[in-house]
Amino acid sequence: MKQYNIAVIPGDGTGPEVVREAIKVLDAAAQKFSLKLNYTHYDLGGERYLRTGETLPDSVINELRQFPVILLGAIGHPNVKPGILEKGILLRLRFELEQYINLRPVKLYDERFCPLKDKKPDDIDFVVVRENNEGLYTGAGGFVFKGTPNEIAVQESINTRRGVERCLRFAFDLTRRRNRAKKLTLCGKTNVLTYAFDLWERAFHEIGQRDYPDVKRDYAHVDATTMWFVKNPEWFDVIVTDNMFGDIITDLGAMIQGGMGIAAGGNINPNGTSMFEPIGGSAPKYTGQNVINPLAAVCAGQMMLDYLGETAAATAIENAVIRTVREKLKSLAAGKMGYSTSQVGDLVAAALQ
Ligand code: IPM
Ligand code: MN
Repeated sequence: MKQYNIAVIPGDGTGPEVVREAIKVLDAAAQKFSLKLNYTHYDLGGERYLRTGETLPDSVINELRQFPVILLGAIGHPNVKPGILEKGILLRLRFELEQYINLRPVKLYDERFCPLKDKKPDDIDFVVVRENNEGLYTGAGGFVFKGTPNEIAVQESINTRRGVERCLRFAFDLTRRRNRAKKLTLCGKTNVLTYAFDLWERAFHEIGQRDYPDVKRDYAHVDATTMWFVKNPEWFDVIVTDNMFGDIITDLGAMIQGGMGIAAGGNINPNGTSMFEPIGGSAPKYTGQNVINPLAAVCAGQMMLDYLGETAAATAIENAVIRTVREKLKSLAAGKMGYSTSQVGDLVAAALQ
């Protein structure tokens, strides 16, 4: 029997509730496909920080390195100043574990939940490959004359040839493997960010021409990309972009696929520890009420199994999610699903059988 060791970080807010349902569904899939999933829970997040002052001890990072994958609930606490937990836990994990890809599929399962008129599941099915270790996220920059009328704040976008190339290669490989339109769109801002995206654009065409002649290369400015997401989402197959633009466009992507209740992502280090998460956040106002939609976490679990090579189990989870969404749910939004958080987990687990 195949075994996998999984680190679990339930985290803050509704994180623990949705992770519980993801594990329920993963266990149902494990049983059906004869897998053994071993979970090790880690207590990280706002509560621990408020109790002990610790965000992410080095010893914990080193333990996490021993796992192929991590399942994460959410990080973010209303009583902790913005930035501390995000930088201290989430971004630190992404950086120190060198999860240089943030993979965010945008797939509509049921047209009832799409805010765009006349768009069907066939029209909204693409993947965003977001660079996850560089850009505006590294913390490079600083203040001069802080707190005075002359103060200056500089926040620099870091784009290394190595970081950009490995991200582009991942995106080209994925486009080839998906084998759909075989089109990779670079999303940038070459008309203004004439250094950063000049590097991206040159690397994109060099690598594409030399090593991926079978993949069509396409380019869109980031502002236009948001327009196309609304107007012609069917235009996209795979999109590759930098960290900040990827952050922004994937929130819009989540909305057109039905909202934060269903959107999942993977922080990937193909040679190390990867981490899968619902992208919606900790939703503090719904905490403990059993009303949050767990499907984003379930889909994160599905992406995790797929990444581990358990394609059949992953596909079975996806199909069970699709059936649950189409046949049962009234809405994908918290409190409006027609079912509680744990009932939605039960429905997916049952649909798997
Ligand atoms: C995301 C989140 C994070 C990001 C925040 C919480 C730091 O918005 O995963 O998209 O900006 O990457
Ligand atoms: Mn975001």
